[in-house]
Amino acid sequence: MTRLDVIGFGALNVDKLFKVNHIAHAEQESFIQSSRVTCGGSAANTIVGLARLGCKVGFIGKTALDREGELLLEDFLTEGVDTLGVVRVKDGESGSVMGFVDQKGQRALYINSGVNDTITLQEIREEYVSQAKFLHLTSFVGEQSFQTQKKLLEKLEKCIKISFDPGALYAQRGYKQLAPLIEKVYVILPNIHELEQITEQKDPEKGAALLQSKGVEVVAVKLGDKGCYVTNGDEHHYIEAVKVPVVDTTGAGDAFNAGFLYGLLHKKSLLECGKLGNFVASCCIKKMGARAGLPYKRELELL
Ligand SMILES: Nc1ncnc2c1ncn2[C@@H]1O[C@H](COP(=O)(O)OP(=O)(O)OP(=O)(O)O)[C@@H](O)[C@H]1O
Ligand SMILES: [Mg+2]
Repeated sequence: MTRLDVIGFGALNVDKLFKVNHIAHAEQESFIQSSRVTCGGSAANTIVGLARLGCKVGFIGKTALDREGELLLEDFLTEGVDTLGVVRVKDGESGSVMGFVDQKGQRALYINSGVNDTITLQEIREEYVSQAKFLHLTSFVGEQSFQTQKKLLEKLEKCIKISFDPGALYAQRGYKQLAPLIEKVYVILPNIHELEQITEQKDPEKGAALLQSKGVEVVAVKLGDKGCYVTNGDEHHYIEAVKVPVVDTTGAGDAFNAGFLYGLLHKKSLLECGKLGNFVASCCIKKMGARAGLPYKRELELL
């Protein structure tokens, strides 16, 4: 079996985005002007970003035997993502998100997490996971899949590095609940709000130091249009964002993760990793949606 560079473990969703004249309130009607269906999920976006950069990647997740499940798998195969770790079940629905966007760009989102929330440890093959250099974790809505992530980390050998983007959903659980994950993590990639929720520190340097005192080696804090703050304990850098026309920041954080992990995999310096994160994120925000702008390896070579 060829060794995979990174395996993602997070929710798989089909995003159905509708442009509407206005977002309807209860008892109101509104009109759909256009619609678009894309594949999403935070870890899945990062994994697709890594695949485009030429990394060998796979995924652990769950779908049902419905049209959405087929779309998610087809999309992974098109992008060159290994799907052996994706469980498909007869009962239930695949994850989906319905989004309604009005003329001003305001959104209303309805999430159906479906079978994403019912992943058990028995459904994950340990040999599949342990062949990877990195396991990249992102959040689930439901409790069961969160517990499975914790149990999986308890079982895993030390040779796999864990990378973790808590997202808003896990950050709001606070440090106590996340400790079993955080204490096994090699690199954590929160945004500044998430770091503050987890560590109760407003200052990224203090927040990062606290996580490092719990065993995390590398902390990359995403600072929106200000770029990022990265540290490995020995070095730390604030790195300015790449200036680009902003079209849509959806998925910028996931794209950052792809660039940063690409850097770690290729043994780049901490500063280079941060710059790669900012660069891949800047490519993402130049296009609509979380994946359209994700760059290919040849675009990195032009840097
Ligand atoms: N306006 C911008 N101009 C240039 N780069 C940006 C801009 N906004 C965000 N970025 C880049 O995207 C990265 C991630 O953005 P952000 O800090 O918003 O993460 P996030 O909140 O986790 O995003 P997401 O909502 O996708 O999870 C930043 O570290 C930066 O590199
Ligand atoms: Mg994020």
